[in-house]
Amino acid sequence: MSVRHFLTLLDLSPDELNTLIHRAIELKTDWRNGKIFEPLKNKTLAMVFEKSSTRTRVSFETGMNQFGGHALFLSPRDTQLGRGEPVEDTARVLSQMVDGVMIRTFEHKKIECFSDYCSVPVINALTDQYHPCQLLADIQTFVEQRGSIKGATVSWIGDGNNMCHSYINAAIQFDFQLNIACPEGFDPDPEILARAGNRARIIRDPMEAAIDSHLIVTDVWASMGQEEEQTQREMAFRDYQVTQQMMAQADNDALFMHCLPAHRGEEVSTEVLEGPQSVVWVEAGNRLHAQKALLEFLMA
Ligand code: CP
Ligand code: NVA
Repeated sequence: MSVRHFLTLLDLSPDELNTLIHRAIELKTDWRNGKIFEPLKNKTLAMVFEKSSTRTRVSFETGMNQFGGHALFLSPRDTQLGRGEPVEDTARVLSQMVDGVMIRTFEHKKIECFSDYCSVPVINALTDQYHPCQLLADIQTFVEQRGSIKGATVSWIGDGNNMCHSYINAAIQFDFQLNIACPEGFDPDPEILARAGNRARIIRDPMEAAIDSHLIVTDVWASMGQEEEQTQREMAFRDYQVTQQMMAQADNDALFMHCLPAHRGEEVSTEVLEGPQSVVWVEAGNRLHAQKALLEFLMA
């Protein structure tokens, strides 16, 4: 069988994704019980980071270590990628030496091109378009706290960005209803939205979008690479802060998630982020377990 990549949630079937989520929960229990499990002994994951990261780097590096393997941090500052060596060449060279490649970059096309030339699995650790690894952790967190997400209502409040696009794909693959509340001019890519059919819809008013929702999710107003738009975005998004009043519109058992890093007082109030419905720390921790399940699926 040809090599499998994980560039978006659509690269795995719904069955494979659900199995992976349950495997992540199992791996977490084993890890808590101190079980040693080293399916990736002597294997190496190359991690290419063209943008900053705390959670993604630490979770992949720790996951590889726990699996008995090794993770290699590669920054464009000190590799030839940063000096213009083509991705096609880098992909073929890394394929000769490592067992998997994780990439965080800007243009989604770049990771697609990389994967076309790579004979080992490629994992998308965030592009301008998608952040599928975060969704694995988010779905795991929901399943742990509330059971299956199938048929649930999820409300995305804020920018139609990489996280929003991955939520649209998740709505397709995990079969839930997604309400997207974003200001005009900050909609998700219409092609990505269209693929979800009636599983995802735009509701401009965030208070309306939150009604009866089982999960409220938001993200920063200015993503990495958009720092210069910060002030203009603060204006455009000022009515899109997730507040306690917005949470009160949702189901009584609604959860709040945020991929982090969070900007308190912008996309979310401190009260909500630190409040009883927020599961952001568990969500962040689940990056480790969900990605271990992914590494096992792709590389073991
Ligand atoms: N959520 C997330 O991907 O965090 P990092 O940018 O810290 O990796
Ligand atoms: N949308 C954010 C997610 C960070 C994890 C960004 O791309 O910067």
